[in-house]
Amino acid sequence: MISVGIIGGSGYTGKKLIQFCNIHKEISSYKVYGSKTAGETVHSLFPDFVGITKNIAIESVDNIDLDLDVYFIALPHGEALKYVPKLVGNGKKVIDLGGDYRLDFEELYIDWYKFTHTSSYLLKSKLYGLADIVPQEKYNNVNLIANPGCYPTATLLSLLPFITNFAEDILTVSTVAYSGTSGAGKSAKSEYLLTEMAGNARAYNVNKHRHQPEILQALYKQGFHSPFSFTTHLLPAAVGIYATSSVHLKEKADINKITDAYQAVYENSKFVRLREVPPQLSWVTGTNFCDINISVEGSTLIITSAIDNLIKGAAGQAIQNMNKLYGWDEGLGLITKEVESVSVCQ
Ligand SMILES: NC(=O)c1ccc[n+]([C@@H]2O[C@H](COP(=O)([O-])OP(=O)(O)OC[C@H]3O[C@@H](n4cnc5c(N)ncnc54)[C@H](OP(=O)(O)O)[C@@H]3O)[C@@H](O)[C@H]2O)c1
Repeated sequence: MISVGIIGGSGYTGKKLIQFCNIHKEISSYKVYGSKTAGETVHSLFPDFVGITKNIAIESVDNIDLDLDVYFIALPHGEALKYVPKLVGNGKKVIDLGGDYRLDFEELYIDWYKFTHTSSYLLKSKLYGLADIVPQEKYNNVNLIANPGCYPTATLLSLLPFITNFAEDILTVSTVAYSGTSGAGKSAKSEYLLTEMAGNARAYNVNKHRHQPEILQALYKQGFHSPFSFTTHLLPAAVGIYATSSVHLKEKADINKITDAYQAVYENSKFVRLREVPPQLSWVTGTNFCDINISVEGSTLIITSAIDNLIKGAAGQAIQNMNKLYGWDEGLGLITKEVESVSVCQ
């Protein structure tokens, strides 16, 4: 059994981490740390947890105990830099849900995040934890996991099996993705108000979304070298990421070969479901699943995928990564009843 610290436990993804840690059978205790909410309790902040979790105090991020085993960090970008080096230096296991350690190169971080990186030596030794793709053996002796972003999770899980097998056949890839407003965290900004977003949709951060270099970094490692575009949109919904990738090929595609490649990657997956029709957000919200559909017409491939941004795109994948760090069943804390393989379904 292990003890866990949830740093940033008062935010949207932190709340999900509390939920999962609360039911995880290998976690004996957890502490929750906040900034402005320090001094409150879990029940005063999340009244829906009464009768579900213990009413523990939210402690200050300025006083993090060093006697716990695993630390989840769910802070705004830039803030993890203040805590991660000390935790890793003390031999702790750290899973960062933010973007501070995802990119491999300091220069890229400065370009896209506009911060100086004060612990760039950790960028090389961290594991980029795309949990449904990274083999179990890569988790050996890892102390720092950079949990992938929500858009990269939906995009990479749906594109990587194709890129890995057919990179040379590609002319261009264009990914258009959509997010619910919880993707921006809980701090109130007028552009996310219900009055602004109800019945509305818009593209944002066009050509400058921080998740673009993160996606490309993973695609390049698999031999991708074609033009790529990535456009993000805000949806009038609280939760969910939907990604549609259009892949233009040099020649007519062979759907059987492509399907075989996806099935080979995901045949033992607990959390990726290959669908025969394009998925819907409502099939995955509230779960750690990523649903994917591949559709081929001539030399054009359309790949759609859907996830819950707070779970598969953040807290759920972080728990899955912790499970893999300890060699436990990947579903611990995430699914309560074991089921048969889910990888191919209607
Ligand atoms: N939301 C998503 O869909 C999503 C998905 C994937 C990854 N992420 C990443 O996960 C991280 C957390 O996101 P979130 O959506 O949960 O954010 P959030 O709802 O805004 O919560 C932020 C948390 O950080 C704390 N905090 C805020 N400013 C701080 C500061 N200056 N110093 C220390 N603590 C501070 C807050 O504490 P108080 O409330 O006590 O002030 C709160 O616990 C971010 O890096 C985000 O990019 C988010």
